[in-house]
Amino acid sequence: MKSTIQVHDKHFEVFIEQSILEKRINALAAEINQDYTGKQPLFLAILNGSFMFAAELMKSISVSCEITFLRVSSYQATASTGKVHQILGLTENIENRDIIIIEDIIDTGLTMVEIKKQLLAQNPSSLSIATLFQKPEALKVPIDVQYVGFDLENKFVLGYGLDYDGLGRNLADLYVLCE
Ligand code: XMP
Ligand code: MG
Repeated sequence: MKSTIQVHDKHFEVFIEQSILEKRINALAAEINQDYTGKQPLFLAILNGSFMFAAELMKSISVSCEITFLRVSSYQATASTGKVHQILGLTENIENRDIIIIEDIIDTGLTMVEIKKQLLAQNPSSLSIATLFQKPEALKVPIDVQYVGFDLENKFVLGYGLDYDGLGRNLADLYVLCE
């Protein structure tokens, strides 16, 4: 029987173990190393959720590279414009750089579309996305993602950097909400 944990008011069970997550992350790093041979990419890791994924990924990146950490603040603007996302913490000049965004999870894709749009306006020479998780059924906008760790069903997950109302980011395995 799978052991369950309680976070706030909900119960979660182990869904993907750390060793499997890390094996897949190492494979993504190998792909990136191959694709960026001779280049010097700048990784932009989106806080908070991607911190664990970013740390594990970077340990297996062998091409010369830089990494910096960004935050995306989202606030409700008007009913017609919906949510507006603002990128905080980008001090580097990304013009003519090869950019790789590191994200924890792409759900509807709306956050990533907005991040992409704002970064592309600064004329990088290339922009690709590495996400540890993606929920294909939840996507509301088409989005080109170059490096995907795992496709997930449309269920809430936590652990390995992802939280439920602030808790659970420290869990080394990925958990899913019990049915
Ligand atoms: P969208 O919908 O814009 O949102 O792609 C992506 C962001 O939503 C959060 N998110 C989750 N966080 N478990 C989490 O802990 C989940 O299952 C989940 N789905 C979406 C996450 O912050 C991500 O950056
Ligand atoms: Mg996030």
